Amino acid sequence: MKKTVLVSGGAGFIGSHVTVELIEAGYDVVVADNFSNCDHTCFEGVKKITGREDIPLVEMDFCDAAAVKKIFRDYPIDAVIHFAAYKAVGESVEKPLMYYKNNLLSFMNVLEAAQEKGNFNVLFSSSATVYGEPDKVPVTEKTPRKPAISPYGNTKTMCEDILQDTVKASHGSVKGILLRYFNPIGAHPSALIGELPRGVPNNLVPFITQTAIGKRECLSIFGDDYPTPDGTGLRDFIDVVDLAKAHVFAVTRMLEGKMKKDCEIFNIGTGTPLSVMELVKAFEKVNGVKVNYRIAPRRPGDIIAIWADPTLANEEMGWKATRSIEETLAAAWAWEKHLAGK
Ligand code: UD1
Repeated sequence: MKKTVLVSGGAGFIGSHVTVELIEAGYDVVVADNFSNCDHTCFEGVKKITGREDIPLVEMDFCDAAAVKKIFRDYPIDAVIHFAAYKAVGESVEKPLMYYKNNLLSFMNVLEAAQEKGNFNVLFSSSATVYGEPDKVPVTEKTPRKPAISPYGNTKTMCEDILQDTVKASHGSVKGILLRYFNPIGAHPSALIGELPRGVPNNLVPFITQTAIGKRECLSIFGDDYPTPDGTGLRDFIDVVDLAKAHVFAVTRMLEGKMKKDCEIFNIGTGTPLSVMELVKAFEKVNGVKVNYRIAPRRPGDIIAIWADPTLANEEMGWKATRSIEETLAAAWAWEKHLAGK
């Protein structure tokens, strides 16, 4: 029988790519979103890519416990992938309570419903931010977590703990997987879904594409005096389609009873570091466009260098990142042009 996966925050950047990959892998998907940080563009794109007009979409807020219980009653769901959360680091410093309330409450409501239902699987979208500035790179899942620098980061650490404690207390009734994403970038090759930042982008790649298309005057490269080969920060940029596929591997592992522990953790990255400057240059080269940039002071709270050791995900889940940085940056540019109607 076909299994059904609920994707909370399924109309957003990563959620929409995951919805596509789940459907293409043969799952039924229920998308739920409150559209607080996205519009209907990506959901419409998902329908076009998959050729499925009948994907259930529930407009709801996961902080509303009654609404969460209702969606669990209304659909025969076997697993949930939880994305519904706020994600702007700077904003979380300004408005910590908004972040703690939304990100923790929504997840606890999901866990409560999962616990009530029983025999349930929860996949949580965590972040490499839980490692802070690591003492050693690449980081494995055993690398110690560090105290979070921002309330946003802290919500990821706290949600990891909440899931682990809930799984432990449920004695096998609730199972969990934590995926720690490195830096998700790019867009679907169809250019029908991608990242849609509201206002001025915080993240590097949307800022690059918006500068290249002329929406922003100049990209600031935050710091060129770090102790790295070219002085700019080092990151593990992971293609969003590769990242989305990791969710399919993880959900399948849960539903097929292949987990080795009731709560598992996987790093989702390429394993290859790239500097901010190298990324900008690669973008210019592969797309044949100029990105106007300047060197700016370091951004407070930035990590110098982090990349994944993805061996566990490669060997245990059988998932591996396959898309090249050129393909990824070409897709990001195609998406920006699509948005501009070009
Ligand atoms: C941040 C979050 C991470 C989150 C990710 C989402 C922290 C510490 N980091 O990662 O949890 O999952 O966003 O993708 O919580 N840069 C510039 N100019 C810009 C923008 C960025 O030079 O205009 C540089 C940054 O200094 C950094 C790199 O590009 O070195 C990547 O930045 P960004 O895309 O914002 O991601 P992170 O800060 O790594």
